[in-house]
Amino acid sequence: MMKKICVVGSLNMDLVVIADRFPQPGETLSGKEFHTFPGGKGGNQAVAAGRLQADVRMVGKVGDDIYGKQLILNLQKNGVKADGVFVDSGVSTGIAVIEVDGAGENQIVIVAGANGKLDSRFIDEQFDAMLEYDIFLFQLEIPLETVVYAIKKLKEYGKTIILDPAPARLLPDEIFNYLDYITPNEMEITMLTGKKIRTADDAREAGDWLRRKGVGTVILKMGKNGAYLISDQEFSLIPGFTVNAIDTTGAGDSFNAGFGVSLARGNGLWESVRFANAVGALSTTAKGAQNAMPDWEQVMSFINAEVTRR
Ligand code: RIB
Repeated sequence: MMKKICVVGSLNMDLVVIADRFPQPGETLSGKEFHTFPGGKGGNQAVAAGRLQADVRMVGKVGDDIYGKQLILNLQKNGVKADGVFVDSGVSTGIAVIEVDGAGENQIVIVAGANGKLDSRFIDEQFDAMLEYDIFLFQLEIPLETVVYAIKKLKEYGKTIILDPAPARLLPDEIFNYLDYITPNEMEITMLTGKKIRTADDAREAGDWLRRKGVGTVILKMGKNGAYLISDQEFSLIPGFTVNAIDTTGAGDSFNAGFGVSLARGNGLWESVRFANAVGALSTTAKGAQNAMPDWEQVMSFINAEVTRR
């Protein structure tokens, strides 16, 4: 039977400007396009999982404004149960101001808004409904104390925890023991461990550092190069897929959703990372975050076409 997924995290409206390049400090640049796209790392993971046909619930907060309404609607449209999303009056919905350059790279400034109000009391209120779920996806755009609180409480019930330590920040040592999986990118793992990733040995050392702290399995996301799988039984680089990337926003989120969905379907670690690589790659081939998340059929035909090509 397929396991059920619950995402606890942020919802942002992304205000996206597309330009040939990023401006220098103090420079004014003419952009080419402006869009408002549903985003936020939590919402992105939930929508991606919904499009991959998972049974998925979102726990989060939005403000009492038009962006909040649009974000909830977009969750529902993509098959995500959104009754765990609370509308907090007196605060704005989370916002991300995103610049995308000609190479599809981005830089982002976020204002937490309602995401910053997600406290341990809210987790307590949601907890009974959350217990119906098996695999929990967390990120770091809600207060860190809340993430630590929720993860500890869920672990008492033997739930599976996947932490995406994004955006990059230091974590308290006490959290690592409760993590079944952590999925940093290169910048995030350097922030966590102090180790720069230049070689495979660096990846192994940084991964082992996290495992010594208590993490079960480390999955180090290497963008288009794929991801390292670092567990007690395995150290391997699982190759990525080559695509024509036009916007990498949300690629890490779609990777995490793909990984969680594949685990929920009962697949092994190697296969789940491979699947996550495919979901991440496909998400970069369209503009926007939630907008660009691929569905199940797209991912399967993409993977099958790759297998045939080899
Ligand atoms: O990971 C991408 C997301 O980061 C964007 O959707 C934006 O909202 C920021 O939170």
